[in-house]
Amino acid sequence: LQEPLQDRYGRRFYYLRLSVTDVCNFRCDYCLPDGYRASGHQQPELSTAEAETVIRAFAQLGTRKVRLSGGEPSLRKDLPEMIRAASQTPGIERVAITSNGYKLPSVIDTWHQNGLDQLNISIDSLDTDEFARITGHDCLPKILTGIDRALELGVQVKTNAVLLSDGAQARLQQFLAWLKTTPVTLRFIELMQTGDNRDYFASNHLRGATIEQQLIDSGWQLLPRSIDAGPAREYVHPGYAGRIGLITPYSKDFCDSCNRLRISAQGKLHLCLFADAGLDLRETIRTGDVQAVAERVRALIGNKELSHYLQRGDTGGTQNLSIIGG
Ligand code: GTP
Ligand code: 5AD
Ligand code: SF4
Repeated sequence: LQEPLQDRYGRRFYYLRLSVTDVCNFRCDYCLPDGYRASGHQQPELSTAEAETVIRAFAQLGTRKVRLSGGEPSLRKDLPEMIRAASQTPGIERVAITSNGYKLPSVIDTWHQNGLDQLNISIDSLDTDEFARITGHDCLPKILTGIDRALELGVQVKTNAVLLSDGAQARLQQFLAWLKTTPVTLRFIELMQTGDNRDYFASNHLRGATIEQQLIDSGWQLLPRSIDAGPAREYVHPGYAGRIGLITPYSKDFCDSCNRLRISAQGKLHLCLFADAGLDLRETIRTGDVQAVAERVRALIGNKELSHYLQRGDTGGTQNLSIIGG
């Protein structure tokens, strides 16, 4: 067994986010307002076999949890095989997916059978019309049906809502009503500036602290930090079946607890969501040599910086989150 991976600041990386495609069929206002544009990649996406090599290499380095992300991961026909490959890799204890959920009712049973433990779904509004306006797809009821089924199957569900200033209070009230009886963790994410959304960011960014104070004032209580909460601060309330999490990447200690690394669909290692343009591992991955991939990652971890570029008012090379899967 190898020494677990550790960076210069003593952070350990038990969590791999593997993007399986950068294509997305939604066009959320804050992410891909003009829809998906091919970014001119010369390389095809990682195959299932290549994804398996990556996962086995990270498992050797101490990774215990794999999240398949995108783009929209369910656009890949072989996603069920990838879930199975991840869940059968020795050392991997949890397999998660982040999805926009548009296919959820028809795929969730298969995902679960193949070993899915945790599902994160983006729901920026519970108002059907507003949801359609933000995402460009009128399919909220279908997504909610899929979430009910995931809960029935015992899959842990988190939902993500990006905080947007316009209409925030009305959305919050709808979310609270839903959480009374729905046992999911709803996370509010502060809008992050990317290369593609500069103007949108300037007019829509809302600080998480505003909502957080309101929750505290109405009796929500902060939980002690748990490894399961990821980057979120989680709150509970005795009158609610669901939890609320806050993800505030602009707060100054956000990166201190960073526990994740990212691999893009093209096989690039991203040491941070907002930093380098990705370090190419494709040639090594292609050989199928798990040990060699692990050694390259170990050699590159020294370049990981203490915090992301957002805190310097810069977006680094990050055009939008569909490229490296959030
Ligand atoms: P858990 O596995 O439950 O911890 O979920 P997660 O929050 O890691 O996964 P999800 O895909 O739901 O991510 C939600 C969003 O949180 C991401 O798309 C980002 O917007 C934000 N986020 C997650 N990790 C990071 C990070 O390392 N840096 C920054 N700046 N934002 C992050
Ligand atoms: N800022 C904050 N969150 C974003 N997401 C996508 N782009 C941004 C952004 N610029 C969210 C999506 C999804 C999660 C993976 O990332 O809504 O829930
Ligand atoms: Fe970690 Fe980078 Fe994310 Fe900060 S932005 S939490 S350093 S991956």
